[in-house]
This record gives sequence, C-alpha cells and structure tokens, in this order.
Amino acid sequence: MIALEGVDGCGKSTQARLLADSLGALLTFEPGATAVGSGLRHLMLHSEGAMSPRAEALIVAADRALHVEEVLEPALVAGRWVVTDRYNGSTLAYQGFGRRLDRERLEGLLAFATGGLDPDLSVLIDVPLGVARGRIGAAAADRLERLDAGFHRRVAEGYRTLAAGDPGHWVRVEGEGSVEQVARSVAAAVLGRLGPPS
Ligand code: TYD
Repeated sequence: MIALEGVDGCGKSTQARLLADSLGALLTFEPGATAVGSGLRHLMLHSEGAMSPRAEALIVAADRALHVEEVLEPALVAGRWVVTDRYNGSTLAYQGFGRRLDRERLEGLLAFATGGLDPDLSVLIDVPLGVARGRIGAAAADRLERLDAGFHRRVAEGYRTLAAGDPGHWVRVEGEGSVEQVARSVAAAVLGRLGPPS
C-alpha cells in the first residue's frame, strides 16, 4: 500500500491516479471513500460550527477505520496493490503539526483506527507553499483551506519533518515540474523502494 501525501494544491490527487494506473493498483482516497465516510468528509470540510482539533482528529480517524475495513484490507487480502490519496501522514501533518495535537496520542489513535495497518511507503509531493496555495481558488476553498497561513506553513513543514524523520517509510518527491515529470519521479521513487508489482 502506497500513500500519496502533501498539502492542499500540491498535485497529489493527479499523481495518485497516474501512479495507480501505472502499477495496475486500486486507487482510493481519504477522507470519504465509504458510504458513511462520505458523510464524515462533509462534516470535516463543510461544517459551519466551531470545530475542535480533537473532534477533527476523531472524525478523520473514524473515516480511516471505515476505509481500512471496507476498502483497504479487502483489496490487500486479495493481493492487490493499493494507492491511497492521503492516509495517516495527513493526520500527523494536519492535526499534529497544523492543529498542534500531541503526536504520541495521535499515533495511538491511528493505531486503534487502523488496527495497525501502515503504508509500505508514503510519498510526499513537496511543492513550495506559495505554489500550492496559488492553485487553490479562494472561492472553492473548504473549511481547512481557509485556515490561516501559519496553519498551512506548519502542515507543510510538518510533512517535511515526518518524511525526514522516517526515511524507511517516506520518500520526498519534488512536485514543481510538469505533471509528467513529477509522475516519472514518483514512479521511480516507488519502484526504487518497493520493486515492481509481482
Ligand atoms: P483532500 O480530499 O485531499 O482535499 P481536496 O479534495 O480539497 O483536494 O483532503 C481534504 C482535506 O482534509 C485536506 O485539507 C486535508 C484534510 N485532512 C486532514 O486534515 N486530516 C486527515 O487525516 C485527512 C485524511 C485529511
């Protein structure tokens, strides 16, 4: 299982699709890939009332538990490769570094939510924050995308800290080139680490 990670507007959804196509892998995403999860996604992105960081962490953890049970585990048990657009790295970056929740507690929550299912590799698509922010239309921005610049800086830096701190499970790919260039870098990084699907 490979997770594509990065800030909003980094291009990871396009890259997740291209990577899944090139590997013949199942493509999936968070938050919201299951029936109940799509309601949780709506809560996460479009709720109007005040949202506490802990509540936010619990919503994404609930979504992930559903995703693991309904989508990821069945595909992995069937022997498929899976590419997911966001996974635990998103929670550590957004709720941990961005919302400043305690890392160890979050890791405990994620272990509970996933039953310990970790990606073989998380790929950070790293683009300068200004580039990523420029790709997000202000009108279309969701609740998280409208948060202040400090939050987004902490998330971006948090991702780099996560990737640098666990090089056995993370790889950082430069995300600023053309879609094709970045796709080649992602594929090379993944195949370099995991080898081709058997
Ligand atoms: P995503 O679907 O990638 O955004 P979009 O469809 O707008 O490109 O992610 C939705 C948002 O949810 C994104 O701002 C990151 C946030 N998120 C978290 O804060 N924590 C999480 O654990 C996950 C999975 C997502």
